[in-house]
Amino acid sequence: MGAPRKPHLSLLFAALPLLGVGLAAAQDAPAGAIALGASCVTADCHPALAPGPDLHGPLNTGNCTVCHEAIDGRHEFRLARSGPALCGMCHELALSDVVHAPVVEGDCTSCHDPHRSPHEALLVQSPDEGLCLPCHGQDGLMSQPFLHGPARAGMCVVCHESHSSSNQHLVRQDGAELCAFCHGEDIARFEQSRHLHDPLRGGACLGCHDPHGGASASLTLVPAPGLCFTCHGDLEERVARSAVVHSPVSAEAACSSCHDAHGSPMPALLREGELALCTGCHLEETHTARGEVISAVGALIRDSAFPHGPVREGNCTSCHDAHAGDKARLLVSDYPPEFYAPYDARRYALCFQCHSGEAFETERTATLTNFRRGDVNLHFIHVTKDERGRTCRACHEVHASNRPFHMSETVPYGGWRMPIHFEALPGGGRCSPGCHQPETYDRGLTTASTSSEERLP
Ligand code: HEC
Ligand code: HEC
Ligand code: HEC
Ligand code: HEC
Ligand code: HEC
Ligand code: HEC
Ligand code: HEC
Ligand code: HEC
Ligand code: HEC
Ligand code: HEC
Ligand code: HEC
Ligand code: HEC
Ligand code: HEC
Repeated sequence: MGAPRKPHLSLLFAALPLLGVGLAAAQDAPAGAIALGASCVTADCHPALAPGPDLHGPLNTGNCTVCHEAIDGRHEFRLARSGPALCGMCHELALSDVVHAPVVEGDCTSCHDPHRSPHEALLVQSPDEGLCLPCHGQDGLMSQPFLHGPARAGMCVVCHESHSSSNQHLVRQDGAELCAFCHGEDIARFEQSRHLHDPLRGGACLGCHDPHGGASASLTLVPAPGLCFTCHGDLEERVARSAVVHSPVSAEAACSSCHDAHGSPMPALLREGELALCTGCHLEETHTARGEVISAVGALIRDSAFPHGPVREGNCTSCHDAHAGDKARLLVSDYPPEFYAPYDARRYALCFQCHSGEAFETERTATLTNFRRGDVNLHFIHVTKDERGRTCRACHEVHASNRPFHMSETVPYGGWRMPIHFEALPGGGRCSPGCHQPETYDRGLTTASTSSEERLP
């Protein structure tokens, strides 16, 4: 092979050790020999390495041989040292405990150009444009349906050190500090919440989020409710073994339809107070999976003058379990679903959480209830019977009503909505329901009569 002149530059660079002499000063030398002392960088030879501002330090002095050693004086080269030792001649990297694999292996040139680069720190590619992707582009972390902004942009180095770090996984900072670099406002907002979700106290964003991507835009490790169940296993169990599950718990938005995963001004991390939260979804009639109609309780409450105490206080969960339960309508305790039922205090446990059972069990009283004629307890007469006792639903609405004492306008009687026509009177009241003749009761009476009882159906 003759001495090739002016070989094509890219060929030169691609196959340096096999190249013939490319230096003008070496033309008289035997084929393959190198003229010692000749400059390697001329207009014809390695012109791309001509001095300039973006050149690697040692090249500015034209010093090639500190790194390239000629083999037997020929224009054939091997690196002066191998692995980390080559760059290590002049650079001692201050490394922390966790060291990146290519740094350990001395594969410095996977990221750095040994000669020159238009990018900072002689990088082969801008770190903002996928420096890391040649090796990590195929990692599982980059194949998620939704990628986190900076990961999608290939800007791995905003979060990771390239050489080493004192933190696991080469992260620049631990915990929420890392996220605070860009999400400072979000984190400040979370931390100002009156009620902060426990995992955020330790800044453990990664307990729920994948820093690279996820199955949804919110980058959660798994979608809710599974995400929440990883720590709230007791609730998962309850949902699994309950006869009645409130459908939003397992619907797509799941727990997030009611809770803010970070923090909230409301107790129990609720997005809104219970009254607004629950009535918001229950403004209109809806259906259960079993096809039952769920009435528009929200509209009833909105349009009623007299909300029941716990409803007025926004405490729906004093009677309902927001998640799941074994009782009809997610009730937390027993309440007879029928119009008539034999009296058993246990069946009214729901109401007797707050109202005294004694008021229903005492035949004569001048104090325990106002629903009496003289001292004859009309609650006792209607409710406390061995058979066909009228349940509270025969007269009262549990949520709200436009009549005083939460008296119902109408009550379900078989397929009929039976009107009650209740009126409060000074010292008593009157009703003209479908079940008996109009009746007036007067607490001031001294002679009590139970005559109406005989006429009850
Ligand atoms: C700081 C060390 C260092 C210096 C100084 C240096 N090189 Fe290199 N050079 C390298 C390394 C490392 C490689 C890559 C070798 C490999 O990957 O096998 C390389 C590769 C090359 C190649 C092969 C093509 C390429 O770019 O991969 C040529 C040609 C080359 N150098 C020429 C020169 C010339 C000419 C000089 C002096 C002007 C010089 N080098 C100075 C380290 C250096
Ligand atoms: C002969 C000594 C020597 C060797 C060998 C050497 N360097 Fe350098 N390197 C220098 C000098 C000198 C500078 C310029 C120092 C400065 O600007 O602070 C420098 C600067 C750098 C910089 C910083 C450039 C910048 O713009 O901030 C990087 C990165 C670098 N070298 C990487 C390497 C790598 C990778 C190797 C091995 C392939 C290597 N060096 C081998 C001497 C050397
Ligand atoms: C995975 C890519 C990667 C590898 C591998 C890598 N570096 Fe770097 N290096 C960078 C990046 C990115 C920067 C500039 C940004 C920074 O400081 O983090 C840098 C900066 C440098 C600098 C200049 C700033 C400083 O920290 O002193 C030197 C010198 C350097 N590297 C040398 C080396 C040497 C020597 C090796 C091999 C032992 C090596 N690098 C391996 C990515 C890498
Ligand atoms: C030359 C190939 C290569 C390049 C380029 C590269 N890496 Fe790596 N990286 C590796 C290898 C190999 C591992 C070890 C893989 C393993 O343990 O599964 C690794 C591991 C990592 C780890 C995990 C470390 C740990 O302790 O868990 C992080 C984080 C990482 N690289 C970030 C980066 C970033 C950021 C860049 C770009 C600046 C980058 N890598 C560029 C090859 C590379
Ligand atoms: C928003 C910050 C952030 C960005 C951007 C980021 N990472 Fe990470 N990365 C992390 C954190 C935090 C961990 C540690 C995860 C953990 O502890 O579970 C990690 C872990 C890793 C790991 C090791 C563990 C694993 O999941 O395999 C690799 C490899 C990795 N990152 C590579 C990359 C690459 C490549 C990029 C750029 C495409 C990148 N990262 C972008 C924050 C980030
Ligand atoms: C370098 C800046 C940067 C860092 C650091 C960073 N993020 Fe992000 N993050 C972004 C950008 C940009 C978006 C996309 C914003 C958008 O789409 O509105 C984003 C989006 C998100 C989203 C989805 C937001 C949504 O709209 O649903 C979550 C969740 C998230 N980041 C969590 C984190 C966590 C956790 C960390 C810490 C491990 C972190 N981020 C660190 C820049 C960053
Ligand atoms: C308990 C699990 C959990 C923890 C811990 C957590 N997040 Fe989230 N994050 C979520 C869920 C779930 C969403 C989706 C919210 C939704 O659907 O309304 C989300 C959404 C986000 C969003 C986008 C929308 C929003 O609500 O602002 C950002 C940004 C975010 N998280 C950042 C963080 C940061 C930063 C941390 C750590 C300080 C963190 N998260 C900790 C579960 C969590
Ligand atoms: C990393 C573990 C973890 C994950 C994941 C998690 N939580 Fe929690 N959560 C806790 C801890 C710890 C507490 C405080 C102790 C307790 O009440 O069990 C808590 C408390 C709560 C509380 C009660 C707060 C109060 O003030 O009463 C709610 C509500 C809650 N979490 C909802 C969620 C929701 C919704 C999700 C999913 C988006 C979720 N959690 C995911 C750990 C977690
Ligand atoms: C329909 C609204 C709603 C949905 C959906 C919902 N919650 Fe709740 N959750 C509440 C309300 C209201 C409370 C507060 C009253 C109470 O303690 O029962 C609460 C309380 C909690 C508490 C604290 C008290 C307790 O029961 O341990 C945790 C933890 C909790 N929820 C987790 C979850 C998780 C996890 C999901 C998703 C599987 C979820 N919630 C879905 C409304 C909801
Ligand atoms: C005092 C106890 C109590 C309180 C407080 C309460 N509920 Fe109820 N709720 C019941 C009872 C009892 C039923 C069953 C009604 C029936 O069987 O006629 C019921 C039924 C329901 C139903 C199903 C309606 C239907 O057609 O069967 C919804 C929806 C409902 N409640 C929502 C709410 C909301 C929203 C709140 C808070 C604003 C609330 N409840 C507060 C006792 C209560
Ligand atoms: C995100 C919308 C949403 C919110 C918020 C919501 N619900 Fe529901 N709720 C529904 C839907 C849809 C149904 C009908 C399907 C089902 O769960 O059976 C329902 C059914 C019910 C039932 C009847 C359950 C049955 O199977 O008999 C009750 C009772 C109830 N909700 C009470 C509440 C209470 C109390 C709250 C507040 C803690 C609340 N809901 C908040 C959507 C919601
Ligand atoms: C969480 C406590 C609580 C539960 C459970 C409860 N109540 Fe009440 N109830 C109240 C409070 C407080 C008042 C007084 C404030 C009001 O509603 O005017 C009240 C008042 C009443 C009144 C009379 C209102 C008046 O104007 O004097 C009726 C009727 C009533 N409740 C029926 C029921 C029935 C029926 C049940 C069972 C389905 C029930 N309550 C369960 C707290 C409760
Ligand atoms: C036959 C109709 C009827 C039935 C059935 C009935 N109530 Fe009443 N209740 C009334 C009337 C009428 C009043 C109003 C008394 C007054 O102040 O004039 C009343 C008043 C009340 C009050 C206010 C305090 C008091 O006793 O004066 C409560 C609480 C109450 N009822 C709870 C219940 C509960 C709980 C049940 C079911 C166990 C029930 N009621 C069943 C008609 C009924």
